[in-house]
Amino acid sequence: MGLLIVLLLTCAALPWASSDPSDEACLTHLSQTLKDPLKNLQNWTKSTFANPCSGFTSYLPGATCNNGRIYKLSLTNLSLQGSISPFLSNCTNLQSLDLSSNSISGTIPQDLQYLVNLAVLNLSSNRLEGEIPPQLTLCAYLNVIDLHDNLLTGQIPQELGLLARLSAFDVSYNKLSGPIPASLGNRSGALPRFNATSFEGNKDLYGYPLPPMKTKGLSVLAIVGIGLGSGLASLVLSFTGVCIWLKITEEKMAAEEGKVSQYMPDY
Ligand SMILES: *[C@@H]1O[C@H](CO)[C@@H](O)[C@H](O)[C@H]1NC(C)=O
Ligand SMILES: *[C@@H]1O[C@H](CO)[C@@H](O)[C@H](O)[C@H]1NC(C)=O
Ligand SMILES: *[C@@H]1O[C@H](CO)[C@@H](O)[C@H](O)[C@H]1NC(C)=O
Ligand SMILES: *[C@@H]1O[C@H](CO)[C@@H](O)[C@H](O)[C@H]1NC(C)=O
Ligand SMILES: *[C@@H]1O[C@H](CO)[C@@H](O)[C@H](O)[C@H]1NC(C)=O
Ligand SMILES: *[C@@H]1O[C@H](CO)[C@@H](O)[C@H](O)[C@H]1NC(C)=O
Repeated sequence: MGLLIVLLLTCAALPWASSDPSDEACLTHLSQTLKDPLKNLQNWTKSTFANPCSGFTSYLPGATCNNGRIYKLSLTNLSLQGSISPFLSNCTNLQSLDLSSNSISGTIPQDLQYLVNLAVLNLSSNRLEGEIPPQLTLCAYLNVIDLHDNLLTGQIPQELGLLARLSAFDVSYNKLSGPIPASLGNRSGALPRFNATSFEGNKDLYGYPLPPMKTKGLSVLAIVGIGLGSGLASLVLSFTGVCIWLKITEEKMAAEEGKVSQYMPDY
């Protein structure tokens, strides 16, 4: 009987006391690749990684817990540098990842595809480079992909249009190129699925819903302006030229006249 009570007690205590090895690996690796020069991450220590959650309570500022597992990680505007560890994918219960408004560089790990519960991905306003991993399509619950204001290159993966729940998508102000996938730009109807605001600020990105490409880098207005401007300039130039020429010949003639009068006998 006593043994049973002890067993029951251990059982009841287990979910609270036990740490999750996946979350621990996730946090340990993430803390190794992220740099925190201003020491803004409080409690980001080995002992907390081993036990970041107690049920619904989090000992790790920025993390939210549910049943002893991290399900939200929000580390925004903390001047973080460094890169995102691929081991972040070990936080398998993660539903929301927000690392926006830092100075994080490196690439977006394609291993994020293993976060099958991920609904929100906000990595905006960082210094992320490389391509948007098409594997993100495997995170079938993705509602929000916000990658605006980074240094991302390459094309927008066509596959992302397959994300049925996607309600917010922003890749503006990167260095993306190529056509906007019709699956993201067009809805089956006439309205755009995501409007131009989601795509602006990428020099070599084109297609609906962005306004048509400017003709070879110069807009019609600029060409007309340059034409008119140079016409006016040449007109002014030739006018002053004629003026100067007239002035010179006038002076020359006056001088000739003077010379001539010099040799003229005085009467
Ligand atoms: C840091 O973690 C300890 C337990 O590891 C906890 O008691 C403390 O409240 C935590 N501090 C913050 C700011 O969450
Ligand atoms: C970001 O943090 C800085 C300093 O910590 C603060 O001044 C600023 O208001 C914060 N910005 C936002 C958008 O929270
Ligand atoms: C943790 O993540 C790494 C990198 O994605 C992966 O190689 C490893 O298999 C993962 N471990 C577990 C237990 O999921
Ligand atoms: C992503 O984070 C930024 C900055 O924290 C915020 O302004 C923006 O609204 C977020 N994006 C979405 C789609 O919630
Ligand atoms: C997308 O919509 C625009 C405007 O309605 C249309 O001109 C274009 O042909 C459409 N593209 C595709 C691939 O459906
Ligand atoms: C684009 O869509 C967003 C919401 O997704 C809306 O807030 C914004 O006003 C729209 N912009 C234009 C120019 O239609």
